Amino acid sequence: MEYKNTYNNLNNNDERPIAFFDSGVGGLTVFSKVKKLLPNENYLYFGDTKNMPYGEKSEEQLLEFADKIFKFFESKNAKAVVMACNTTSAVTYEKLKDNYNFKIYPIIQSVCSTLANMNCKLSIIATPATIKSHAYSKQIAKYNPQMQVFELAAPNWVRIVEEHRINQPQSILQVQEILEETNNFNPDKIVLACTHYPYLMEILKKFKSEEIFIDPSVYFAQIIKNDLTESNMLNNKFEYEKFYVSSDPENFKEASKLFYSIKELPEIVLL
Ligand code: DGL
Repeated sequence: MEYKNTYNNLNNNDERPIAFFDSGVGGLTVFSKVKKLLPNENYLYFGDTKNMPYGEKSEEQLLEFADKIFKFFESKNAKAVVMACNTTSAVTYEKLKDNYNFKIYPIIQSVCSTLANMNCKLSIIATPATIKSHAYSKQIAKYNPQMQVFELAAPNWVRIVEEHRINQPQSILQVQEILEETNNFNPDKIVLACTHYPYLMEILKKFKSEEIFIDPSVYFAQIIKNDLTESNMLNNKFEYEKFYVSSDPENFKEASKLFYSIKELPEIVLL
C-alpha cells in the first residue's frame, strides 16, 4: 500500500502530530532538527527504553517492537512516523512499511542517495544489527555501485549514552578502540549511523577532526521537511509535544539534555 494523502489541506492546517521513535534518547538528534525546521508542528516521541539497546536484538524482536509502536502512533492519529532509529530502519522497514495509514520516514533509506553522491571512501559505524543487515552498503550501492563502503559495529556506544557515562575513561577507551579500526580503511568520511552517536561527539573529536564525521540526521530532517511540504501536510500552529517511554522516565530526561530539554517527565506506556 502506497501512502496517499487524502487530506485537503491548502491552508497548512493539518494539526495531526508527527511522531518519532527510537530505543531511547538517540532519536532526539533527529527530532531536535526537524522541530527547528518545522516549528509549527505538533509532535510525539516514543523512546523504547525498556527494550534498549535495539542493536543487540533479533529481527523477530525488532519487528514486534516496531509494529507495536506504529500501532500506538496510529491510535494517536499521527500523520507521519519518523523512524529516528537506524536499527529498525535496517531490519524492519521493508517488512512493515505498507501496514499503516500514515507516512513513514526511515532514516537509512532516506539519506543514502545523499551519501552516495559524496562519492568518497565511507566508513559506516552503527549497531551490530544495522551492520549485520548491510543496509547502508546495499542502499548506497543502488545509487553508486562503485563507492567503497566499510561497515563497522560499535557494540557499546549506545549504552554509554543511555547510562550517561560519556565522561568516564572506560567509555573514552571503548570509543577510541572502534575509531582506530577505521584507520585500516582510511576513510574520507565516517557516518555516525546510529542516532545515539552524535551524543559522543566530545569523545570522537579527541581522536579525529570533527569534519570527518557525518550525522545523517542533518540530511534526514531536510528530507522530511521537503516531503511534508510537497505533500501539503503541514500545520500552522504549534500546540503540543508529548514524550513517552517504556521505562525509567527520569533517566530519559537526564540523558536527553545534550540534544533537547524536555520540560515534563515523559509518560510511561507499556505496549
Ligand atoms: N539509536 C538507534 C539506532 O539508530 C538504536 C540504538 C540501540 O538501541 O541499539 O540504531
